[in-house]
Amino acid sequence: MTTFDAVDVIRHKRDGQALSPEEIAWVVSAYTAREVGDEQMAALAMAIFLRGMTRAEIVAWTQAMIDSGQTMSFADLSRPTSDKHSTGGVGDKITLPLAPLVAAFGVAVPQLSGRGLGHTGGTLDKLESIPGWRAEVSNARLMEILDDVGAVICAAGSGLAPADKLLYALRDITATVDSIPLIASSIMSKKIAEGTGALTLDVKVGSGAFMTDLDSARELARTMVDLGTDAGVRTSALLTDMSTPLGRTVGNALEVRESVEVLAGGGPADVVELTCVLAREMLTAAGRDGDDVEAALADGRAMDVWRAMIAAQGGDPDAPLPVATHTHDVLAEHDGVLTRLDALAVGVASWRLGAGRARKEDPVQAGAGIELHAVQGDRVTAGQRLFTLHTDTPERVERALSSLDGGYDVDPTAADGTGRRESVVLDRVTAADPAPA
Ligand code: URA
Repeated sequence: MTTFDAVDVIRHKRDGQALSPEEIAWVVSAYTAREVGDEQMAALAMAIFLRGMTRAEIVAWTQAMIDSGQTMSFADLSRPTSDKHSTGGVGDKITLPLAPLVAAFGVAVPQLSGRGLGHTGGTLDKLESIPGWRAEVSNARLMEILDDVGAVICAAGSGLAPADKLLYALRDITATVDSIPLIASSIMSKKIAEGTGALTLDVKVGSGAFMTDLDSARELARTMVDLGTDAGVRTSALLTDMSTPLGRTVGNALEVRESVEVLAGGGPADVVELTCVLAREMLTAAGRDGDDVEAALADGRAMDVWRAMIAAQGGDPDAPLPVATHTHDVLAEHDGVLTRLDALAVGVASWRLGAGRARKEDPVQAGAGIELHAVQGDRVTAGQRLFTLHTDTPERVERALSSLDGGYDVDPTAADGTGRRESVVLDRVTAADPAPA
């Protein structure tokens, strides 16, 4: 591999030049080997954040991150594979009902997930609230469970795209996370290295997401769909609303409880809608068409897979979920309609209650979080409970309340239904769409 000087590479990007594939391959590999320092990579990440990257640079950067570690293959499985990735949101528990639902139709779902950082929850943190459940699974066991049960949600092994692990931690502390080239290459390097045959992306849009406006979310989706398609993965993306939380619970065990309600044929309409839309997208990408996913929720087929999936990783699907030791109700001050409930305010409040972590080594509280007794568009009366805050550490309640303060409006004059979200899905981006000019 050609060797470069890190300072030259940083200077090129700082001055707005496109980096060559050779420069990119070298800098990512040298950073993974710790020959390029964190301070140099931090400067380069900031230059990329400010200057952007061409499509060719993003392709080279993604490939360099894939090449920094191992790749997996599901080619020997008896079933086709289809995976989903969400860019992260508040109350986004969809992976929990979705993976068993898709597996109920004979399509394998290898869901290599992460823990939460900041105000968006992590899928593994949620599942770890189930007594006995373990996130760590060896590659051999992963294949066994996929063949027997059809769905696995587990921790991504440290061998997949190790450059991304280092870089993501660095971006997190240098205000360089919300850059489209860096997010797209981070997500897609892991998904391509994982070896799934098909991938459905759930790109969140709104206050609780990385992308707060539809145009940036569309650009992120287009970049990721192109990266996946070019790598031979059948990839499509849905853009979905994250201006207000999904469902009626935010927090680890609270979200597991709501996911089980969905698997039992109930649950909030928006969670059911998104689960079913994503399931159809994943099944179509795996070559199936016309499956009645709603029926598989109603008749218990998805629940059967859930129970087997949890048990395969040591969890007891019948064990009571942990509950927080302390609750605090927030009441409506007057009659009216809840016209706005901001996802970011709720996400930060839940995080402050202990559901999320500030540093990656911090523990999370399984029972902490927020129950929403009203959602946007609901009529409420003075004194009615709007939210219940759950925590094991009551001294955190005040800071959580200050995050919620200003994060919702009860309008005494608004008509019923004002602010109600009609559909979670805002748009769809597929490989067939023309590339932007
Ligand atoms: N999720 C990732 O895996 N990487 C990012 O950069 C952002 C979200």
